[in-house]
Amino acid sequence: MLDTIKKSPLEPLRPVLELLADGETHSGEALGLALGVSRAAVWKQLQKLEQYGLALESIKGQGYRLPGGLELLSSEKIYSTLGEQAGVLLRELMLFDEVDSTNTELLSLMEEGRGHGVALLSERQSAGRGRRGRQWVSPYGAGISLSIGWEFNGGVQCLEGLSLAVGVAIARALERFSVPDVRLKWPNDVWCRGRKLSGVLLELKGDLTDRCAVVIGIGLNSGLRSEIATAIDQPWADLQQVKPGISRNRLVAAILTELLPLLYSYTEQGFVAYREAWMKLDQFAGQKVTLQAGSQTWSGVAVGVSEKGALKLNMDGQVQHFHGGEISLRGQV
Ligand code: BTN
Repeated sequence: MLDTIKKSPLEPLRPVLELLADGETHSGEALGLALGVSRAAVWKQLQKLEQYGLALESIKGQGYRLPGGLELLSSEKIYSTLGEQAGVLLRELMLFDEVDSTNTELLSLMEEGRGHGVALLSERQSAGRGRRGRQWVSPYGAGISLSIGWEFNGGVQCLEGLSLAVGVAIARALERFSVPDVRLKWPNDVWCRGRKLSGVLLELKGDLTDRCAVVIGIGLNSGLRSEIATAIDQPWADLQQVKPGISRNRLVAAILTELLPLLYSYTEQGFVAYREAWMKLDQFAGQKVTLQAGSQTWSGVAVGVSEKGALKLNMDGQVQHFHGGEISLRGQV
């Protein structure tokens, strides 16, 4: 599967993107000269950038620019601020212009036994996947699409609460940049100012009673334009709107710095080590919520999470634990 990645139709556009990434105006002639192609060829390339959702601006008589510029993903930049322990644990960092889904690609690497300790990032996903069969909108350069592969001994029961702990790791990474109002929504959404900023998709492979492989997929909006985000069916937040200027590369490094040591020690520490931190960030603590799982719904007051990461709902004085489902504020969808 990974062989197909290199054939991304976006790859030939990388040189022109690198020129436009500074956000300055470049004439068609200057671009042609720099790229060694005709102005007509430049024009064709620019048209493709627009097809991929990049907000290219054409200024009459002057040229073209990407307003606000674009910080392209760079392994050099990611490694330069990666924490020491994470640097040891990260076996490989793979960067792509486009894949279908970083999780899908990493799952196939895991199957081949080559995915442990690998972090796979893509500027764009053509078929990004969310939880519960949803799509995850990931246009070029407009966020973070990251998957990390990890193999665990001890079966699936050692991984209880892992997806919630991953949420804590993302929130801690955001804290390093003083991003305000970061909260967690059970089980593993990261919210900011009452809207979803980041989502986590955990996928398992292998022997669920013994050695199993996990792919942790993280999507985070950063520079997502509302014209492109029309397919998102829930209120969403964007990092650049909440706190402009945060580097995607530095944020990726911060996420890996938080997450890799967590994965390394998770079978020993478990969710207990993260439960208190999770509860402090709980978006819905003490609020009346509705939990939906399949066709069933339950209503109650959210009273935190258990040591296994289950949602605790107080329903008429009785606290029940739930391991799956989707919560919303009571009365709202
Ligand atoms: C959710 O629905 O909240 C989970 C979203 C997870 C999206 C990320 S983006 C990187 C990785 N690759 C995917 O296809 N999905 C995850």
